[in-house]
Amino acid sequence: ARLGVLVSGSGSNLQALLDASGQEGFPAEVACVVSNVPTAFALERARKAGVPAVVVDHKAYASKADFEKALLEALRAAGVEWVCLAGFMRLLSADFLAHYTGRVLNIHPSLLPAFPGLHAQRQALERGVKVAGCTVHFVDAGTDTGPIIAQAAVPVLPDDDEKSLSARILTEEHRLYPLAVRLAVSGKVTLDGTRTRVDAQAT
Ligand code: GRF
Repeated sequence: ARLGVLVSGSGSNLQALLDASGQEGFPAEVACVVSNVPTAFALERARKAGVPAVVVDHKAYASKADFEKALLEALRAAGVEWVCLAGFMRLLSADFLAHYTGRVLNIHPSLLPAFPGLHAQRQALERGVKVAGCTVHFVDAGTDTGPIIAQAAVPVLPDDDEKSLSARILTEEHRLYPLAVRLAVSGKVTLDGTRTRVDAQAT
């Protein structure tokens, strides 16, 4: 399956997907990377991996609809079948998502439905949870609200600050995202309306 990865920043989750792409038996490959931020380090990672990378800067468009149209064109041009959000800091509309129903994934650094939105790790520390983690989910028009594909948990340690907790979660993100992409692309976990369905038969 051909993945389009949407990024806005460092792209370490993109890197995990690029690394998985190269492994035998992985059912997906990164076909293109699209960043809405021209200076995102993720673009460097794509270039280094020899994957086409394009900038679609939301600031260059008069409306969200125009921005999303340009995004769609970039994805179509690369023959993208699945879309992975990896630190992509824009919300996608229902109109956009309708073009890729059940084929848009996101990774979020909390155990959803706890702590959606920005600064999830800071929210977790402020709440005093003892277990944190990350979630890969199908994307709907809400903020980090879509049906869950896979999660990983990490402990919150007494001396943690935002940096140390984020690093511990990020290590798990890099393991979880390729795993979840494999589950989704292989049809083992599919979107079924507003829920996920697990097919034990799918390989
Ligand atoms: C990750 O923590 C991801 O879960 C969140 O934004 C961060 C992106 O990091 N959505 P990177 O750009 O993949 O390094």
